[in-house]
Amino acid sequence: SCTAKIDEASLERLVDAFYSRVRADADLGPIFNPAIQDWPEHLEKLTAFWSSVMLTSGRYKGQPVPAHLKHKNKITPALFDRWLDLWKQTTEEVMEPDAAVALQAKAARIAESLQLAMFFRLDR
Ligand code: HEM
Repeated sequence: SCTAKIDEASLERLVDAFYSRVRADADLGPIFNPAIQDWPEHLEKLTAFWSSVMLTSGRYKGQPVPAHLKHKNKITPALFDRWLDLWKQTTEEVMEPDAAVALQAKAARIAESLQLAMFFRLDR
């Protein structure tokens, strides 16, 4: 099985592999492909995001909630399940088992808070 520990290089490979799947996915592709104009820039931003989350590098400066609210009319809770499913598959392939589990747990918590912000706010 895979032996990659969490560092900048493995996170970059993970992010690249994950978004290749996302782009090809029948459900997620139609949301991401029209939304992302510059894929190299998106991959760099998402590598910085995961570096901040897992390595506390502070490399990501952004606001995920407004970024997802822009696409609120197309995003559903079922799509979050699909996203997390692809994340599980990809982390298992690219990372060592402990790292994969840690990345899955973080993603699940972030997905939960994004969904709270998107679907359960009374003031929007
Ligand atoms: C950005 C879709 C779940 C992290 C984006 C963008 C889209 C998108 C379309 C680009 C936004 C723009 O137009 O600028 C989705 C969909 C999801 C999902 C369809 C699930 C159904 C997640 C999850 C995470 C995440 C679970 C984190 C674990 C991010 C981050 C950005 C982003 C960090 C960049 C925000 C910024 O511009 O700073 N997402 N996303 N997304 N997404 Fe997601």
